[in-house]
Amino acid sequence: MRGRFITLEGIDGAGKSTHLRWIARFLMDHGRKVMVTREPGGTAVGEKLRGLVLRGNHGLNPETETLLMFAARREHLDKVIIPALARGHWVLCDRFTDATYAYQGAGSGTDWKKIGLLERWVHDGLQPDLTILLDVSPAVGRQRARRRQQPDRFEREKGAYYRRVRNAYLRRARANSRRVRVIDAGRSLPEIHKELEEILLTYC
Ligand code: TMP
Repeated sequence: MRGRFITLEGIDGAGKSTHLRWIARFLMDHGRKVMVTREPGGTAVGEKLRGLVLRGNHGLNPETETLLMFAARREHLDKVIIPALARGHWVLCDRFTDATYAYQGAGSGTDWKKIGLLERWVHDGLQPDLTILLDVSPAVGRQRARRRQQPDRFEREKGAYYRRVRNAYLRRARANSRRVRVIDAGRSLPEIHKELEEILLTYC
C-alpha cells in the first residue's frame, strides 16, 4: 500500500526539527515505516544546491533561486519521495513547495503564478497528503532562530521579510484548507503534541 506524504512548514524558529522528530517517533510507534527527509536537499545534488542557496553569497536573483529549488525538488521526488511512497513508507519532509511560495514568492518577490507553473510541472500531480504548518509570530521565530550558531541566509533576513513569509504561509493554508493544518506553535510542547496526535490519528 502506498505510504503517506507529510510535509512540515513554518518560519525559521517555529520548532520544526523538534516536532518532526516527535512525529516520526509517533508514527513508528503506530507501526508505520517512516522516512525523514528535507528540502532543499534530500539527494546528493539537492544537498549541493542547498549549500549554494543557503550558505553561498552569490546574490542570486529570486527567480534563479526558485528554479534551483524546483530543480532540487524534481530530483528529490524522482529519486527519494516517490520510490519511498511506493514502498509503503510514510515520508516526512521538512519543508516543500509551500516554502517556495512563502520565501521566494512572498519573501523575495517571485510571482506566485510562475511558482504555480513550476509546481504543476515538477509535482506532476503529486501533492502532500497532509501539511502541518507550525505557526509562530516572526518575533518568536527570529528570537529562537538567532540562538543558532550559524544562521543561514534566510535566518539573517529582517522582520518585514518574516512577516511576509508568515502571512504567505497562512494564505496558502486558507487556500488549501483540506491539506494544510495550522498549529499554534507558540504553546507548550504537551499542548502541541496533543493536537498533532489528534491530526495524525485521523491518517493512521
Ligand atoms: P531549515 O532546514 O532550517 O528549515 O532551512 C531551510 C531554509 O531554506 C529556510 O530558511 C527556508 C529556505 N527555503 C526556501 O527559501 N525555499 C524553499 O523552497 C525551501 C524548501 C526552503
